[in-house]
Amino acid sequence: MKIIHNPADLCRQLAKRRKSQSIALVPTMGCLHDGHMHLIETARKMADFVVVSIYVNPLQFGANEDLDRYPRTPEADAKRCVQAGVDMIFHPPTLYADAGPLVSLHVQQLADVLCGASRPGHFDGVATVVNILFNIVQPDIAVFGEKDWQQLAIIRRMVRDLHLPVQIIGVPTVRECDGLAMSSRNRYLDAADRRRAATLSQALKAMARQAGDGIHDCATLLATGHAILHEAGIEAEYLEIRHADTLQALHRLQHDQPARAFLAARIGKARLIDNMPLD
Ligand code: PAJ
Repeated sequence: MKIIHNPADLCRQLAKRRKSQSIALVPTMGCLHDGHMHLIETARKMADFVVVSIYVNPLQFGANEDLDRYPRTPEADAKRCVQAGVDMIFHPPTLYADAGPLVSLHVQQLADVLCGASRPGHFDGVATVVNILFNIVQPDIAVFGEKDWQQLAIIRRMVRDLHLPVQIIGVPTVRECDGLAMSSRNRYLDAADRRRAATLSQALKAMARQAGDGIHDCATLLATGHAILHEAGIEAEYLEIRHADTLQALHRLQHDQPARAFLAARIGKARLIDNMPLD
């Protein structure tokens, strides 16, 4: 497995491969966990040559967010990638000239809600860096996690709007035994907060169960979720039910509209997110 730091080197190396092999890209910010590894396994099955990018993208962090303390574990990441059969890690020191790009992407509508409401500019930063990574790697497929559903929906839309020649693959969320969605930010939790964090998926699961039992009124489903969070002393930053693709708010579940419940909450030092389908 090669570790490449320079975009021009990567382009050169991949140009040879591209003639005979399909290329998959798995974009990450490193500190790889089993959720990331599941994306890599999926990429491995779908393409001949797998590139994992590791880049903590400053453009997607707000001024008071955790850019500086975001965990960086390059040696452990490289080991996991070797074990998983990754062909190449792309680990650039930066992707932006000077203080930042003068030309960047702006995401409308899909980025104003859910995480975008409290993280202005976050999804512009994600779209800009993913677009840059697509331009450098020129992958046939790119693999993303459903854990960050809003991000996945925005990237799918970016690919459609900008006619990018890449197939986007979404992979279901990988969870700890107690249901907590795996995340690099789970490291910020102390033992008590870690136990409490399982409540997030429990609240979503209870809502999904109720929806499966035929309760279609979203206010009723949301009340169930809030009650479970409240009991654990968790106040949601948001708990909402939205259309899975358009992210429009829903008041009633309908058979012809895919719906998901979305949740964000601060637990101790971590801001955690999760989502689940309501079928
Ligand atoms: P990061 O948080 O490192 O996540 C990289 C990819 O792993 C994303 O597609 C994310 O959805 C996926 N992922 C994270 N936890 C997961 C889990 N428990 N199960 C399944 N997939 C999971 O998301 C980013 O980085 C960045 O925004 C990035 C796309 C790299 C752009 O900077």
